[in-house]
Amino acid sequence: MTSQLCRAALLPALIALLFPVALIAQPASGAAFVNTLMPLPASLTARPGSLPINGSFSYAIHGNAGARLSQAAVRFIGRLEMRTGVQLARTPAASGATLSIDVATPASSPYPTLGEDESYTLDIDDHSIALRAKTDVGALHGLETLLQLAQPAGSSFLFPAVHIEDAPRFPWRGLMLDCGRHFLPVDVIDRTLDGMAAVKLNVLHWHLTEDQGFRVESRVFPKLQGLGSNGLYYTQQQISEVITYAAARGIRVVPEFDMPGHSTSWLVGYPELGSAPGPYSVQTVFGIHDAALDPTRESTYKFLDAFLGEMAHLFPDDYMHIGGDESNGKQWAANPHIQAFMRAHGLKTSAELQAYFNTRIEKILARYHKRMVGWDEILSPNLPRDAVIQNWHGTEFLINAARQGHNGIYSHAYYLDHMYSAADVFLADPIPPGSDLTPEQSKLILGGEACMWGEHISPLTIDSRIWPRAAAVAERFWSPASDRDVDDMYRRLAIESIRLDAEGLTHLSYPERALRQLAGAEDDGALALFASTLQPVDFSERYREQHTTQLTPLDQLVDAVHPDPPLRHQLELLVNAALNSDKDPGDKDALDQLQTIFRYWVYAAPALESMAVRNPLLQLETNRISQWPKLGQIGLDAITYLRSGNAPPAGWQAEQTAFIQEAAKPQELVDFVVLTQLQKLVDAAASTKPHPGQ
Ligand code: ACM
Repeated sequence: MTSQLCRAALLPALIALLFPVALIAQPASGAAFVNTLMPLPASLTARPGSLPINGSFSYAIHGNAGARLSQAAVRFIGRLEMRTGVQLARTPAASGATLSIDVATPASSPYPTLGEDESYTLDIDDHSIALRAKTDVGALHGLETLLQLAQPAGSSFLFPAVHIEDAPRFPWRGLMLDCGRHFLPVDVIDRTLDGMAAVKLNVLHWHLTEDQGFRVESRVFPKLQGLGSNGLYYTQQQISEVITYAAARGIRVVPEFDMPGHSTSWLVGYPELGSAPGPYSVQTVFGIHDAALDPTRESTYKFLDAFLGEMAHLFPDDYMHIGGDESNGKQWAANPHIQAFMRAHGLKTSAELQAYFNTRIEKILARYHKRMVGWDEILSPNLPRDAVIQNWHGTEFLINAARQGHNGIYSHAYYLDHMYSAADVFLADPIPPGSDLTPEQSKLILGGEACMWGEHISPLTIDSRIWPRAAAVAERFWSPASDRDVDDMYRRLAIESIRLDAEGLTHLSYPERALRQLAGAEDDGALALFASTLQPVDFSERYREQHTTQLTPLDQLVDAVHPDPPLRHQLELLVNAALNSDKDPGDKDALDQLQTIFRYWVYAAPALESMAVRNPLLQLETNRISQWPKLGQIGLDAITYLRSGNAPPAGWQAEQTAFIQEAAKPQELVDFVVLTQLQKLVDAAASTKPHPGQ
């Protein structure tokens, strides 16, 4: 094959990579139920039969469920139409509806609240669907499940007959969005809320203030956003619209105003709040800055009282996050007035001064009927019991918080910018294994939050950083603790990922667009294949290599490749099957598929190299591009030895291992995701025993 290699030639390999067989296989009419639900429900019984989805499908809502459910039902019908191509009635049926929705209790508030009943049951038979819930929020979850159940089956779509009883394991199932470091327009927030609702996440933790930007309009202190945001902030009108949009999907919005650190942007307009005189300007550099609010002045609390009062009115949720992370105490140590205050109050360390500050803020929030949430730095012996601790350091902070009687939210394992695999985040449980918490203490852990920090994302790239991995996190928060089958999770995740992108998220579609742009042509086959073997380096490595700031363009290959791309787990499955020791030389089909994949890396390399000659952005990947075909060749050679039963020559294993280890070193902002499996093949090939008679 030549460098003229085109997308058509690559198509078989791309199809194999992007659409594993399990995905293409759909149940034929009457075939066994195939579960594609994400998150898995608490209990599901598949029954014989199915309900066809055709133009006579209709729905009705019984009971006084309110506007939120009526609107959700209309959206459901529209989404079902888009999925099936069947035109459906958009108004409720007067009688004899196919889908009947029953809600026991009318909604008491237009805004969801922590701990309200989110359960539902769903019964589908050949003729009808019954969705029953105690609250309208439960019914919203049931509608999402129903939509995921819609499946193509030969000449029509159908709902399989099932009985589902479902309720979440944890009441706090969140996603944190950092809009401080890179501003995210409202349409990005809205589509993220759609994705959250689809997988039953129910808290948007909105990180609104940072050293790099103050993103919320204050009418009381307009210089906050006026001077602290470079014009990029949400008006109060927009905030209210987002809260309404979220509430319509059963999602609470918990705002975070980070203090006393991470507060440079507050001080641009109001330097008198700071612990050093200033002047201050909005930061573009990331990391921990020294700027901190002055916790010793009564004027600081007067200001915060007025500001938090304004925000308490704007954000209806019962919880408000005050950050509290990474306050380095440097300005406090350098300020004689603050040092004198600490001596006078017997506060020996900056942590003790911060604890004093937290106690004052907690009192302010309590007056506004808000419970305080903070990152785990706020945990201290005197912290009022009502405060909720969000863990981001090791799980010991969550455990200590629960032992001290605090509610907790687990996030440490769900930092999406650390590029953990979907398997990693799925298996990490909010109740720390082996923590010896009593059942009462364990109950204090409300759930968890996936965290999307903003250093390395733009409105274009953020979806591919959040999705589909956040769906795996959502399943951990919703489904029973016993749900730990990683292979099955990946099977369903691949399907849910496509559904989410089809509904408006861009985690699949934007990277394709970015690769086309990098390839400089519609034919990006070789680059797409190369990209399928890569993921972004993790947060710290990217910072170390790139020194990323708010001004760095996010348009390199690293921004177009997926964290934990599907190929990583697919190779694991294929290599496991190929090396299945019951057979010799293992599963032949798996070996054939691996060979096809590796061959295409070798074949596509010249096309990739000629693309790189034309594009300076691809020249940033020179080493990775040259390593790639060699990795393919290592795979091909290993397969040849495995197939032939001939052991490789002395030194072969060491030489390939050295190359794989070299390729494992972080560089050029992207990591290969294929090395562990290549090493397994190399080791297996090296231990090949000659067949008898050879
Ligand atoms: C944090 O990651 N600084 C909470």
